[in-house]
Amino acid sequence: MTRVLRARAGDASACTKIVAGLPDYFTDDVSERVRHDLARHQGWVLEDGDSVVGFVIVERRSPLAAEVLWAAVAPARLGCGLGTELVETVLDELSAEQVLIVEVKTLNPKAGYGPYLLTHRFWLARGFVQVDTIEPLPGWQPGNPCALLVAALAGTRRAG
Ligand SMILES: CC(C)(COP(=O)(O)OP(=O)(O)OC[C@H]1O[C@@H](n2cnc3c(N)ncnc32)[C@H](O)[C@@H]1OP(=O)(O)O)[C@@H](O)C(=O)NCCC(=O)NCCS
Repeated sequence: MTRVLRARAGDASACTKIVAGLPDYFTDDVSERVRHDLARHQGWVLEDGDSVVGFVIVERRSPLAAEVLWAAVAPARLGCGLGTELVETVLDELSAEQVLIVEVKTLNPKAGYGPYLLTHRFWLARGFVQVDTIEPLPGWQPGNPCALLVAALAGTRRAG
């Protein structure tokens, strides 16, 4: 039985363990960055029994806008619907907090890197739309075009 909960400080090690198990997706520095960001921003974990099997970290850009900084599911559990359960819950909770726009940055499919082709497809299936490509993105290694994806949780224009 799985459930999505707000992350607590004690979840950091479980999250960094997931990151360390996904070397095709995350460079060595990411575990430490996840630990840093989890202490400063909103986090959610997906628990299966006593185990953390996925997490999401979100930074508020403004009261109405947020960015998914990190999202990951345990390597043995990829592609089983857990990421969908986790992300849909996070988006619902952000919507309840009046967030209108959520962005996520991921590797652009034009890089031709198989694992992140699936990741890009995952975000599109969750309602995200690619609005731009940024290359080079400051802080990313050269040769890694960034796809900027955005989901609207509600309309941003006033009626009438
Ligand atoms: C992206 C991620 C969070 C999605 O969670 P998930 O539990 O694997 O995804 P779900 O099972 O809920 O959804 C499956 C869909 O996501 C996509 N997908 C993304 N990564 C996948 C993977 N490794 N294996 C299978 N499907 C994957 C597929 O499009 C799939 O749908 P389809 O089978 O109809 O094509 C997870 O795969 C993950 O942690 N990937 C590695 C890290 C990563 O890319 N993080 C996001 C960085 S922006």
